[in-house]
Amino acid sequence: MIARLFSTLFLAIGLIACVNADSANDPTNKTYEVSSPDGVIKVALSDEGGELRYSVSRDGLEVIQSSLLGLRFSKQHGFDAQMSIVDSQLSSADSTWEQPWGENRQVRDHHNLLRLVVRRAKPEQSMNFYVKAFDDGIGFRYEVPKQAGFESVEITEEITEFNMDQDARAWWIPARKWNRYEYLYNTTSVDEMEMAHTPVTMKLTNGTHVSLHEAALVNYSGMSIEHRRGPNLVANLAPRADGGLVKLETPFVTPWRTIQIAKDAPGLVNSNLILNLNEPSKMDDISWFKPGKYIGIWWQQHIKDRTWGNDGIHAATTEATIEMMDFAAEHDFDGVLVEGWNTGWDGDWYNNGDVFSFTETYDDFDIEKVSAHGRKVGVRLIGHHETSGNVTNYENQIDDAFKLYEENDVAIVKTGYVADAGKLKYIDESGVTRFEYHDGQENVKHHLRVVEKAAKHKIAINAHEPVKDTGLRRTYPNWVSREGARGQEFNAWGVPPNGPNHVSHLVYTRMLSGPMDYTAGAFDLRPSERPPITEAMGRHDKRSRIEHTLAKELSLYVTIYSPIQMVMDLPENYRARPDAFQFIKDVPADWDKSIALSGEIGEYLVIARKDRNSDDWYVAAHTNEHARKVDFPVNFLQEGDKYLAQIYRDGDNADFESKPYDIVIEEKVVTSDQTLTFDLGRSGGVAIRFTKQSAASN
Ligand code: NOJ
Ligand code: CA
Repeated sequence: MIARLFSTLFLAIGLIACVNADSANDPTNKTYEVSSPDGVIKVALSDEGGELRYSVSRDGLEVIQSSLLGLRFSKQHGFDAQMSIVDSQLSSADSTWEQPWGENRQVRDHHNLLRLVVRRAKPEQSMNFYVKAFDDGIGFRYEVPKQAGFESVEITEEITEFNMDQDARAWWIPARKWNRYEYLYNTTSVDEMEMAHTPVTMKLTNGTHVSLHEAALVNYSGMSIEHRRGPNLVANLAPRADGGLVKLETPFVTPWRTIQIAKDAPGLVNSNLILNLNEPSKMDDISWFKPGKYIGIWWQQHIKDRTWGNDGIHAATTEATIEMMDFAAEHDFDGVLVEGWNTGWDGDWYNNGDVFSFTETYDDFDIEKVSAHGRKVGVRLIGHHETSGNVTNYENQIDDAFKLYEENDVAIVKTGYVADAGKLKYIDESGVTRFEYHDGQENVKHHLRVVEKAAKHKIAINAHEPVKDTGLRRTYPNWVSREGARGQEFNAWGVPPNGPNHVSHLVYTRMLSGPMDYTAGAFDLRPSERPPITEAMGRHDKRSRIEHTLAKELSLYVTIYSPIQMVMDLPENYRARPDAFQFIKDVPADWDKSIALSGEIGEYLVIARKDRNSDDWYVAAHTNEHARKVDFPVNFLQEGDKYLAQIYRDGDNADFESKPYDIVIEEKVVTSDQTLTFDLGRSGGVAIRFTKQSAASN
């Protein structure tokens, strides 16, 4: 407490304005500074020349060059000229909060907060600006209070800039392109970037690692990063179909604009900045949501063994589901996802948004019978609502749809919004049809309506083709997972498949935003080479394949976090390899602690996680197309204890192209003072379970 008081006082003294000596006597030219609690990250703000600007450094090295801040509106003057900082307050906070489920049980929120009141001279109008500086980065947001002439606004431009080292390496996917977030990552200089979705991650030439994103995207449009010239990066908000970018009533706050900053790539993975910038949970009780693993009637359709609709070999039959439930029960998995149980899938289902029913089953799927069987064997049905982009058709049925699922014990629903970017169909009360972006303001609001409605039925949501994650799981802990990147499905239909380096990109980009339903666990790495079930169904192009070794597929259960992990392959493929399957059966989906140990963006990652419900630790590593040696001390294990390490590693000849199934499964006793070394094959990996020997011998 006393220490906290001192740090607040110290900061308050450090805050005194006028760092800029030339402007010391000019009240309209002031510079303010706020630092991270460890003093390493520094943010400077100024109103020089009537513009609000900021810059950021880490350890004396430049991160963000002088960059503009502000908002513009269609009917009011912007907060973009004649601006002066008229008041400021500095405070600090240090607290620890608990995640009901997650990568870490305890999360420390330690930051310094600078609040500025910024006034435009003519006409007189003001806004508040907040900057929070943490040891792992910064967040800032605008707040527009209610004031004369500002009852409601239409934002036409957010002029927030993130001017960066133009020679920095950037890892990014394009924004506003038809396939939403489902692209392979580009690696270019900042100067060669196009408009990118966030998180966009960079390594500066001074070695600093940076990721730009946003937190708490509520009632606002998603922010992409537009590259203009040289170092100039600018916020670009998804447009609304009825004009403008965002429509709001005052008072309002924007989402936090976030800059995660670390000296190395694992530092970004270990950051809790996005969660810390979200509001605490709004839900009294989330104990009904249980993290876990699920299998599904899903891959069958993607590899063309079966169809979603009744226009081929229908996958979602009562018998097939019961069989799946028995397999899940036998191996202790919690749920069975069933896709294609409801009417509307026949033909090109991605164009069937207008005809999907969310309550009417196909004749060969008896939902009551299936859920009764689930109750008997202790496995739950996982629901599926594919909208094919007609959001209004979904919302019109949503109450009945959730009611039906609740009655049938469904506790998790996977939603889907397969439609090109900018083509989500909304029909307003007067019957006017509009087409919105997946990250547009209307769809941001839709997702939260779904999540809040689902909670009333004790249902958790896993959204595919979603809006990106901005940490809202803290506030709405039933929003448990989502897609929002290229997942495993692309390896079924390729061409090209995701390739050997995709997951080495994901863990340093998409995964910084939150859990992903990647759907790991492919045991048949060449599904397109299976003989087709019927001539008519055929197979996908033979080049569609999983370009990983088997050990790397196992490693994904640890490296790619989600509280619900799919075990995506067909039961027959797991039955064929019971030894490797054991890892998937053992690995938990809920963690007490997570520590990224080493890695490089796009290259490799080594990460350790401790199980939330036992003393077990897990470590996994994977590499891109390059074979590599990884070593790591296991000093996270309890000192003085012996652990049994069950190791699933690449064999000596493992290689994603020539020998993907070359795996060695072995056991070793280890103690915390040891360092372990592994040779990973090309696109290979390793997955290890550490069990306390005392516990193991009980
Ligand atoms: C795309 C989703 O990502 C996939 O998982 C699902 O099977 C299909 N849509 C059908 O809803
Ligand atoms: Ca998808």
